[in-house]
Amino acid sequence: MCGIVGYIGNKPAYDILINGLKKLEYRGYDSSGIMIYKEKKIVKKTKGKVADLENLFTNSNEKKGNIGIGHTRWATHGPPNKTNSHPHTSNSGEITLVHNGIFENYDSIKKVLIKKGYIFHSETDSEVLVNLIEDIIKTKKVKLGKAVYYALKQVVGAYAIVVFDSKNPKEIVGARLGSPLAIGVGDAEYYFGSDATPFLEFTKSCIYLNDNEMFIVNLEKGLTVREIEKDSIIDPFVQELKQNIEEVEKGRYEHFMLKEIFEQPQSITDTFRGRLISASHPISISSLKKYYEVFKNANRIIFISCGTSWHSSLLAEYYFEELLRIPVEVEYASEFRYRNPVINKGDIVIPISQSGETADTLAAIKMAKEKGAFLYGICNVVGSSIARETHTGIYTHAGSEIGVASTKAFSCQISLLLLMALSLGNKFGTINQKRYLRILKELENLPKTIEKVLKSNDIIESISEKYLDSQNFLYLGRGYHFPIALEGALKLKEISYIHAEGYPAAEMKHGPIALIDKNMPVVVIATKKGNYHKVVSNIMEIKARGGKIIAVVSEGDQEIEKLSDQIIEIPNCDELIAPILANIPLQLLSYHIANKKGCNVDQPRNLAKSVTVE
Ligand code: G6P
Repeated sequence: MCGIVGYIGNKPAYDILINGLKKLEYRGYDSSGIMIYKEKKIVKKTKGKVADLENLFTNSNEKKGNIGIGHTRWATHGPPNKTNSHPHTSNSGEITLVHNGIFENYDSIKKVLIKKGYIFHSETDSEVLVNLIEDIIKTKKVKLGKAVYYALKQVVGAYAIVVFDSKNPKEIVGARLGSPLAIGVGDAEYYFGSDATPFLEFTKSCIYLNDNEMFIVNLEKGLTVREIEKDSIIDPFVQELKQNIEEVEKGRYEHFMLKEIFEQPQSITDTFRGRLISASHPISISSLKKYYEVFKNANRIIFISCGTSWHSSLLAEYYFEELLRIPVEVEYASEFRYRNPVINKGDIVIPISQSGETADTLAAIKMAKEKGAFLYGICNVVGSSIARETHTGIYTHAGSEIGVASTKAFSCQISLLLLMALSLGNKFGTINQKRYLRILKELENLPKTIEKVLKSNDIIESISEKYLDSQNFLYLGRGYHFPIALEGALKLKEISYIHAEGYPAAEMKHGPIALIDKNMPVVVIATKKGNYHKVVSNIMEIKARGGKIIAVVSEGDQEIEKLSDQIIEIPNCDELIAPILANIPLQLLSYHIANKKGCNVDQPRNLAKSVTVE
């Protein structure tokens, strides 16, 4: 994880770096630091947030300079203290580096460097690299660009790096393998970022560096991009960014998470744009049209993902098997990549990822590709590594998601997965036409229906007040609601630090029922249709043991209301749509509980949004 920023040009670098780091804090916030150069180099770093770093700059002279690099850290090697923070500086003090990723063979290189007399202050792999670069400059008598090139040939692992040599302060060098790095191209100025948000307000021209590429930016000579393996100069693709700066600002909301929850009607409209024109038009998904035969002849579909995206995958299994009649498997990418799975030609592997950068998902894709699978990626971030590593795919177009806990990206993923399953099911003839049209109509109205669900915000906020002291929560759901129970529990534990578990409601009697007493709140998703009556029985079992019941029910339900302590109503709908709606009150419940407990909702402890380490 970790976030990297950089700037070289004629503007004052300080504000660009600090504001850029704030935008990247979702990638990690254990510590932060910046280097600014004006005649001499200033490096300041600290444990904690970017706001703490700002407090270190009390003297305005120290903020001067038109070149600099910065870093916000999610700790991997060594605890999150000042010494382990980036930027790291070489022994001579001349080379400064920021790094996102992990060098696996750093220890052996460190031993060689120690023998040569190098001294290390931190426990990081990054400090090894900066000294290796310095050593190469000295021994091979080369400039920074060449030294970075030779150093990267020696290291094994994943990285995005940006490096500066104070002996040549008109130049910045960077590279990527496995961790993202974007270059914003301005007018005789360049910005660097782990994503484009740090420079979105300054330029829309962006180069996403590919794996195995490095760049040298020189204020006099401009930008050169090289392919590291082939050691050849390449002509990079300059992309015109479509994102707006407003998307990455909180606006009138207290937190990004709340803003993103309330953005869901708009996000889903964007997901459906051009794909679901109206219920009377056929669904139009170009990548499915193009690869229709591949899907038609597929032996099975394997969804791979992590975290919240794994919950989307689980729901996809229910949708795709129901509507397509193709066998589906769902795998945690981290398990899949290491367990030598059987993959044959005719298998479709569908990775799902908001960031498109999750290291385990990316590695699993590469492995599945080598074994001959067809890769169809579902990502939110345009131009991300997963989008580029797959044969084809689709973007969710949920917009920038800044809150670490995923909300709108999840809703867009599951809405899109349902749309895809409907589109293929209709073509295969595996779905009843009447039902197809009815669900399509409901999907067309989904943004409006979600607006109605969001009106329960005040009710949910008052419910949340009753559970601020709870130590544990259970979330139960059956069928399509089982993945939502898992997601509801994950959301609560991520941001409120309350222990929460999701379970298929019927499994409760095989263990969790032992936990139920008057102190155990149980969130039950119990909408009409599907297994409604079976869930009612599960609710009675909880009631009989004194548990507190918060039920998400269909509008007008009276049966469950009598049994529950609190209910949250969602509009009546098809059971395939119900999980998309039922999830939203659970997002709000987690948000209000965490917020009222005083937790940092957008940046929960120990977490990061984009997990680029395994
Ligand atoms: C992290 C985030 C989660 C996310 C997961 C997978 O753990 O905090 O919100 O679901 O990574 O990320 P991806 O970008 O692949 O969906």
